[in-house]
Amino acid sequence: MTEKTQNTMWGGRFATGPDAIMEAINASIGFDRRLFSQDIAGSRAHAAMLAAQGIISSSDAEAIREGLLTVFSEIESGDFAFSTGLEDIHMNVEARLKEVIGDAAGRLHTARSRNDQVATDFRLWVRDQTDAAVSGLRALQRALLSQAEAGADWIMPGFTHLQTAQPVTWGHHMLAYVEMFGRDAGRFGDARVRMNECPLGAAALAGTSFPIDRHATAAALGFDRPSANSLDAVSDRDFALEFLAAASICAMHLSRLAEELVIWSSAQFRFVTLSDRFSTGSSIMPQKKNPDAAELIRAKIGRIMGANVALMMVMKGLALTYSKDMQEDKEQVFDAADSLMLALAAMEGMVKDMTANRANLEKAAASGFSTATDLADWLVRTLGLPFRDAHHVTGRLVALAEAKGCDLPDLDLDEMKSAHSGITQDVYGVLGVHNSVASRQSFGGTAPDQVRARIADWKKRL
Ligand code: ARG
Repeated sequence: MTEKTQNTMWGGRFATGPDAIMEAINASIGFDRRLFSQDIAGSRAHAAMLAAQGIISSSDAEAIREGLLTVFSEIESGDFAFSTGLEDIHMNVEARLKEVIGDAAGRLHTARSRNDQVATDFRLWVRDQTDAAVSGLRALQRALLSQAEAGADWIMPGFTHLQTAQPVTWGHHMLAYVEMFGRDAGRFGDARVRMNECPLGAAALAGTSFPIDRHATAAALGFDRPSANSLDAVSDRDFALEFLAAASICAMHLSRLAEELVIWSSAQFRFVTLSDRFSTGSSIMPQKKNPDAAELIRAKIGRIMGANVALMMVMKGLALTYSKDMQEDKEQVFDAADSLMLALAAMEGMVKDMTANRANLEKAAASGFSTATDLADWLVRTLGLPFRDAHHVTGRLVALAEAKGCDLPDLDLDEMKSAHSGITQDVYGVLGVHNSVASRQSFGGTAPDQVRARIADWKKRL
């Protein structure tokens, strides 16, 4: 057992320092150093408030302010010796502050605890990431929107069960993702509104007997208000969970688009060509061009959703208020946020750079009897058949075309009439894919006019 000297921050009642293993399991400085700028911002706001309230002198507050600036630049320039013995970012900063300014540093922790400090720092960090996620999503939406605009009327097969269903437009398909990522941005925005309350001043758990001004620190840190219950303030990690939940749903959407890009860029589909900039090669097969970025984006949901589950498990069953379990919140959120930002940026780059192969899309759209519904609708509209009967008649024609190895428009009129005597030459007008999509004018439908109208709506919003 290694015996250490007492901890300078809390060692007063201890006879010996912690065992090396204790230090190893206890320390968070290895990862929470990422919170240094939030930690220093929180301390600056706190010190200024303490002085304004007459709790510390203005000369001490000034020394603290200056000293924190020095510590900030030391950490930022990589010129800072982090100590595991000092456990976390909060004590590392404070200890260095003491070296820089002397005893005044000891007054900074008045009316404050690491419990409200870490809750504040982490909220500020998650809030920044929430904003970054929204900007990443907006950039991706814009990339999808330009794809939609370029191919508002390009025809492609629409799928259900990954079986050709009905022709749709490329623009419409791109806009489906614009909607999804729009909801994601909305979820991050909603979470931000709830997270924007300041825990600082809740102190250890019960508040403080010093005459602090929590409204002032909340305002200085850009929060809407101080949190209303000190117990809740130090024990709440909902803001991180909501961030992870929004990130998980967003990652799920990204994985669906990624999967489509993997399928579409395959030799069998050739719906899109991914740029060289966002593809990789094989070390053995010279012909290969692999959609690795899409595959990795598809996989990111694993760690992001994993983080969501992990933090939920950490928090469940914790009696109020703070428990050290909660130190396990940060690595999960850091990793999930890093993964999400990278996935969003990579997807934006891929979408921006990719080329849709218009001819292949249209060719695929015309196969697989994709206009069978149009034929059934024609039978309803023109011959007054009930839709169920029209469905049946069309099914017989599909079977006939399949047996002959041709498409629906290749059947001659006599063959058409064999399924229903009322069918006339007019029917051929609805069997083409262009007419099919142009007819789907219902609001939110795939007709190019509709697509262009939705593009215009989104352009105003973005
Ligand atoms: N490093 C700690 C964490 O991340 C800071 C809070 C410590 N509080 C305490 N009472 N030991 O949660």
